[in-house]
Amino acid sequence: MNIGQVKEILGEEFGRVIDFLSSVVVKLELAKNSKVLDIGTGRAHMAITLALHGYKVITGEPEGVYWADWRISAKKVSVEEMITFKPFNAENLPFEDASFDAIFLYATFHHIDNKERALSELLRVMKSEGRLVIIELTEAGINSVRKRYKSHPDAVDPRDFTKGLGLKVKVIESRDLNAYIYKRFK
Ligand SMILES: C[S@@+](CC[C@H](N)C(=O)[O-])C[C@H]1O[C@@H](n2cnc3c(N)ncnc32)[C@H](O)[C@@H]1O
Repeated sequence: MNIGQVKEILGEEFGRVIDFLSSVVVKLELAKNSKVLDIGTGRAHMAITLALHGYKVITGEPEGVYWADWRISAKKVSVEEMITFKPFNAENLPFEDASFDAIFLYATFHHIDNKERALSELLRVMKSEGRLVIIELTEAGINSVRKRYKSHPDAVDPRDFTKGLGLKVKVIESRDLNAYIYKRFK
């Protein structure tokens, strides 16, 4: 299935972000057998994008906070089997140390209460050569989301929380979304 068909099937909201999410995934050049974690399932835009690029993904969010039935969308574009859902809180992840090659948070970081605690958990479960990819809304992105969800929280720059953690960051910018790609200093 090509991206045009996926946009048609999954609709306008997904169509608006998939090009940027896809471009970030492609740029990372992850091996196809990479262990990939997606934090904050939501409507599963991130998990589905990863699956469409051929990556198996574990995705989750706190128990009882299911914003949408991600399975319905994943099924529509035939990637349900690539995605495993597990309820979890980013502040206390149910995974062994150094489990993942890549960890994605798309529009999730600003929703997490204790961001320092979550970052410590994310880095614990990330392999030494792994990538942490935090994709956040820009001011323009927040303004456009607020047309639909008036009380949406402010945008966050994750670099305000990652100083002193031994990470280097590369930023991919767009009008509505920025991707902050972290790896550890050698
Ligand atoms: C706007 S949605 C994210 C969109 C989603 N990543 C996607 O691809 O469609 C924000 C998500 O953050 C999740 N969230 C909030 N606090 C969290 C936490 N402490 N741990 C994990 N997920 C959290 C919410 O449950 C929600 O799914």
